[in-house]
Amino acid sequence: MSNNEIIPQYDVVRQNYSPKEKLLLGELRENLVDLAISSGGNFQPNEDKLLNDIRSFLFARLSQDPQNNKLTNEYLDTLSLKLLRDIIGYGEIDPLIQDDDLEEIMINGIDKPVFVYHRKYGMMKTNIRFDDEKELTDLIDSIARQINRRIDQETPILDGRLVDGSRINATIPPASADGPTLTIRKFKKDPLTVIDLINSKTISVELAAFLWLCFDGLGVKSANAIISGGTSSGKTTTLNALCAFINPKERIITIEDTLELQIPHEHVIRMETKPANIENKGELTMNDLVKNSLRQRPDRIIVGEVRADEAITLFTALNTGHSGFGTLHSNDARETITRLTNEPMSVPKIMIGAIDFIIMQNRIYTPSGVSFRRISEVAEVVGIEEGVVQLNKIFEWNPETDQIENVSVSSKTLSQIANLSGRSINDLGREIENRQTVLNHMVKQDIRSVDDVKAILDLYYKDSEKVLNRILLGR
Ligand SMILES: Nc1ncnc2c1ncn2[C@@H]1O[C@H](COP(=O)(O)OP(=O)(O)OP(=O)(O)O)[C@@H](O)[C@H]1O
Ligand SMILES: [Mg+2]
Repeated sequence: MSNNEIIPQYDVVRQNYSPKEKLLLGELRENLVDLAISSGGNFQPNEDKLLNDIRSFLFARLSQDPQNNKLTNEYLDTLSLKLLRDIIGYGEIDPLIQDDDLEEIMINGIDKPVFVYHRKYGMMKTNIRFDDEKELTDLIDSIARQINRRIDQETPILDGRLVDGSRINATIPPASADGPTLTIRKFKKDPLTVIDLINSKTISVELAAFLWLCFDGLGVKSANAIISGGTSSGKTTTLNALCAFINPKERIITIEDTLELQIPHEHVIRMETKPANIENKGELTMNDLVKNSLRQRPDRIIVGEVRADEAITLFTALNTGHSGFGTLHSNDARETITRLTNEPMSVPKIMIGAIDFIIMQNRIYTPSGVSFRRISEVAEVVGIEEGVVQLNKIFEWNPETDQIENVSVSSKTLSQIANLSGRSINDLGREIENRQTVLNHMVKQDIRSVDDVKAILDLYYKDSEKVLNRILLGR
C-alpha cells in the first residue's frame, strides 16, 4: 500500500496469461456458456469434473501445437487450475472476493480502476482495471448465470446475491451510459458479534446489557426494536449481533430480500422474497411473507428491511403480542416515526405505540476517509399526545467524549418487565449489572465468535448463577 496518493492503493498479483492461453480461456468460457444455456438454467458444474474436462481440453489443444515445448504435466495441472478459478470464480476480481477485509468492491465501467472499501483503510484504488467492455460484460454475465438470473438491454439492472451471500448490483448500458458497472457488498464470512461491536465502541457494555435484559424480558415481555440509520451505517450488522440476545426458546422467523442475517439460534425459519419471473408471475413480496409468518406460529418476526406495505402487517403482529425486529432507513428517531406513518408504509399512528425501542445507528466519517459506527441514540415510544408520537430518549452518544450515555432516569420497558415479573426496578438494575459482568468477561477473554458468544449466552440462560460464580469466583 502506498500512502502518497489521496486514495491509497490496493495491489493484487494479477493473473498473467500468454496470448495463446488467453484465447484458450475465451474458448473455454464460450463452451461453458453453451453448456449453461443448454441446461436451461440448472447448470451446477461439479468442480472436479470440470477441472478434468479443462485439462483434457488443454491437452488436446496444446499437444497439437508442434512449437509447444512447455507441455509438461505440471504445466497442464497449474494452468487447468488457474483457468478453473477464472471460469467458476470471479476472474480478475477473484482475489478481491476472497479478501474478508474488504467491505465493498466497485467497478465503475471500463478503463477505470476498480475501487474497494477496506475495513481498516477505507476507500482504496486497486491495480485492476477492465480495458475491454466485452471482458467486463462477460464477468457480469457469468455472475448472473451463477445465480440463475439474466441481465440484458431490456432489463439492464440486476440485483441479487452471490452463492457466498454477498449482495451484488450490476448495470449495463443503456442504464449506465459509460459501460457496465458492478457493485458487490461482501458478505462477512465471520460476522461481527456484539462483543466485536463493544470492542469497536459501536455499542457500550451498559447499553448492550440493558438491551439484552429487555429483548429477553425475563420471559414476561420480550421487547421489540427498529434499528434505523443511513445507507451502510451498519443497521443489519447491529441487528444481527443483537439477535444473539434473543431467548433461545423463542421461535424466530426472518424475512429478507436477500439473506443477510446469520442467527445462531436453533429455532429459526429463514424466508426470502422473490422477484416475478419473465411472465410476471411468482412474485413473493415482503408483505406476502410477513402475512404468511403469522400462520407459522412465530414468537419473533424479523424483517430485514422495512420499506413498504409490509410495515402495517408487521405492526399488526406487534400489536397482537408478537415480538419483532427490523431495520429502516432514516436519519433520526423522529424521522423514523414520520417515515413509518407516511406513504408507502402508512402505519396508523395508533399502532406505533407497539414499538419499544428505536435504535439509531450512525456512520461517522473522519477526514482521512476512514469511517466508524456508533449507536447514536436509543429512544422508547412512550405514547401519543395530541396526535404526536412521544419519544423518550434513554441512551445518547456524546461525540465529545465518544461515550454512549444513559440520559433518562426511567425506562417504560423496564417498568413493564418489573410489573409483569413482580420484581423491583432495583432488582432489574442488579440483573443488568450481572449481564454487564458476563459481557465484560467475554471482552476480556476475547470470546467473540458467533458460536462462542452463543455458547456463553446459552449457559447464562440455563443457569445464570453458575456462570456468574465461574466468572467472579473462578469456579
Ligand atoms: N459496527 C461496525 N463496525 C465495523 N464494521 C461494520 C459495523 N457495522 C457494519 N459494518 C460493516 O459495514 C458494511 C455495511 O454494514 P450493514 O450491511 O450492516 O449496513 P446497513 O446499514 O444494513 O446497509 P444498507 O443500508 O445497505 O442496508 C458491512 O460490510 C459491515 O461488515
Ligand atoms: Mg441493511
